[in-house]
Amino acid sequence: MTDLEFKFLSKASLTPELQDESDRLDRLAFAGPGTEMVPEFAGMRWSAPDWMGLGFLRDALVTQVFLPVREICVGGQTLRVAGVGGMATHPDHQHQGYGSALLKATEDFMRAELQVPFGLLICADATRPFYERAGWQAVADALTHEQDGRRQVLKTCVMVLPLTSREWLSGEIDLCGLPW
Ligand SMILES: CC(C)(COP(=O)(O)OP(=O)(O)OC[C@H]1O[C@@H](n2cnc3c(N)ncnc32)[C@H](O)[C@@H]1OP(=O)(O)O)[C@@H](O)C(=O)NCCC(=O)NCCS
Repeated sequence: MTDLEFKFLSKASLTPELQDESDRLDRLAFAGPGTEMVPEFAGMRWSAPDWMGLGFLRDALVTQVFLPVREICVGGQTLRVAGVGGMATHPDHQHQGYGSALLKATEDFMRAELQVPFGLLICADATRPFYERAGWQAVADALTHEQDGRRQVLKTCVMVLPLTSREWLSGEIDLCGLPW
């Protein structure tokens, strides 16, 4: 575990080679067993990230997460959050704690660098315990987002990670754009 090296890079700063490596990891991880398409996510268009959290083992990318930063609307109030999406560990390296280690490093990055009060993610029920172990809390079972410019309700587990002493707001969650 200790030999995992983390980098947080803006999406725009990724070299074409690193972008290719990231695309390959994304395809491999999401094609693996246990990731059968969640019906609610079928055909979904996803938001591009602003930042990428990357974990390298001896210079090879083994785990990654996409981090969009967005002003969303919760209970009618505007709130800036860091999204966590596309969490993926290379199938050859899963179940070794790398994903959890990257999530922890991502928490530190969101708090210190992005300086947002909350992280927010959506996930399938199967992966909810993975995030709960890292301190994320389920706050809703649906949210509003946009697809092709139209607002839609998505029924899914919505989890947040408080990064300050601020409490989560009550009310409808509107991502005000594409989901992540
Ligand atoms: C989810 C994922 C990123 C975890 O990465 P990882 O490096 O293996 O994570 P860790 O080793 O820190 O933790 C693994 C734990 O997560 C949980 N977990 C991960 N995927 C799970 C799944 N599909 N179903 C149930 N539990 C799961 C298990 O509790 C597992 O514990 P175990 O190793 O004792 O079995 C990795 O399994 C992956 O890339 N999956 C495919 C893509 C995906 O589904 N991403 C999540 C999108 S919300």
